Formats: sequence, structure tokens, C-alpha cells
Amino acid sequence: MREKILALYFLLFLSIVTFAGCSASTLPAGDAARGKALFADTTLGTNGKTCNTCHTEMGRGEKSLVGKKPYEHTIRDCIQAALQGDPGQEQAVADLKAYIGSL
Ligand code: HEC
Repeated sequence: MREKILALYFLLFLSIVTFAGCSASTLPAGDAARGKALFADTTLGTNGKTCNTCHTEMGRGEKSLVGKKPYEHTIRDCIQAALQGDPGQEQAVADLKAYIGSL
């Protein structure tokens, strides 16, 4: 019985640690206006594309991002895979996240 209770506490502890680890953001504060500029900025990546190339009309057209949850990892994926850019641009990720969240 005692072991079971201890095991339960341990599981609870583990899930809190895991959950906190996932939700704790290390991103700097984002700025939607800067994010909007970055959305169409060819210097974010290296292949001349911008977010607006695929998510047209500044995220409101094709592949619309309106109402989509702007997950950090998705933004990084698109910077890396679609723009051939550095996904570790923390300020840019934060600003894009703020912009997409504002759509
Ligand atoms: C080469 C095309 C392309 C480019 C450029 C691109 N994306 Fe994407 N993006 C996609 C595709 C494909 C998906 C998958 C979902 C879809 O089809 O709408 C996606 C999904 C996303 C999602 C998740 C949407 C959802 O359904 O939850 C976000 C957020 C996103 N992109 C942000 C960005 C940002 C920010 C940039 C610029 C840094 C960017 N994308 C550049 C093609 C692109």
C-alpha cells in the first residue's frame, strides 16, 4: 500500500516535470508588427522564399494560418524546411508566433 502511494506520488511528480518542461517557453517577448514584416522577409531564409510564398495574403490566403495555433516547433520547421533558414532565430520565432496569433 505504502509503495503504491509512493509510486503514485512519483508518477505525479514526473508528469508535472514533463508538463512544465513542455509548456515553459524560453522565447523572448514577441512583437506582432515585427512578425508581420518578417513574414514577407526573404532574408529570414536562404532560398529567396518567405512565409508569404506559401501562406499567401500574409497568412490569410492559401494555407491560411487564421485561427491556427502558432506552435513554436511548426514555425521552426517551416523556417528550416521551407525557407532553408536557421530555425534557432529566437526573436524571429517569437515575433512570427505573435503575428500568427494575431490573425
Ligand atoms: C514552401 C511552402 C511553405 C513556406 C515557405 C512556409 N510554410 Fe508553413 N506550412 C507549409 C505547409 C505545407 C504546412 C502544412 C499545413 C498546410 O498544408 O496548411 C505548413 C504549416 C504551417 C503552420 C501550421 C499550420 C497548422 O495547420 O496548424 C504554421 C504555423 C506555419 N506553417 C508557419 C509558417 C511560417 C511562420 C513560415 C515562414 C517562416 C512558413 N510557414 C513558411 C508550407 C510552407
